[in-house]
Amino acid sequence: MITFSDSKDITPQQLIPLFEQAQWSCGRTQDDTTSMLAQSDVILSAWEGLRLVGFGRVLTDYVFRASIWDVIIDQQYQGRDIGTQLIRQILDHPSLVKVELFWLCTRNKQAFYKTLGFSDQEQTGMVWDRRKHT
Ligand SMILES: CC(C)(COP(=O)(O)OP(=O)(O)OC[C@H]1O[C@@H](n2cnc3c(N)ncnc32)[C@H](O)[C@@H]1OP(=O)(O)O)[C@@H](O)C(=O)NCCC(=O)NCCS
Repeated sequence: MITFSDSKDITPQQLIPLFEQAQWSCGRTQDDTTSMLAQSDVILSAWEGLRLVGFGRVLTDYVFRASIWDVIIDQQYQGRDIGTQLIRQILDHPSLVKVELFWLCTRNKQAFYKTLGFSDQEQTGMVWDRRKHT
């Protein structure tokens, strides 16, 4: 049975194997991951028993804007509605009910997010990547 949690009680040892599965999150260190977990505003995770099988996190002012980052479902668990439930739990999270606009970046998962009501008609994003300026 898959269960969901909004506890920040996740260790980097549990999370890094998930991050290793995606090109955009592989190579993250234990120290940076510990810091990220402590300083994210809302964290949603999916578990089968003690195994972490899904993750997503939110940075927000709790009123006007929230951004969703690092959404990832274990490859062995994809296609089982876990990602959908995890995003719904973020959108419905009690601490985020006042948030006017949720924002996220995705290179190739637009179809997944569109099923959840996200739109890509407002393409206003720009990025500054420190790795390209050093
Ligand atoms: C994208 C991701 C989070 C989706 O999670 P998931 O648990 O596999 O998705 P679900 O089972 O909830 O799928 C929900 C719907 O989205 C569709 N979907 C899932 N992944 C998709 C994809 N890559 N492309 C198009 N549609 C997709 C499913 O077909 C399903 O539609 P259906 O109900 O009509 O069959 C997951 O595949 C993942 O972690 N991918 C690798 C990491 C990644 O790229 N994360 C996104 C960063 S923005």
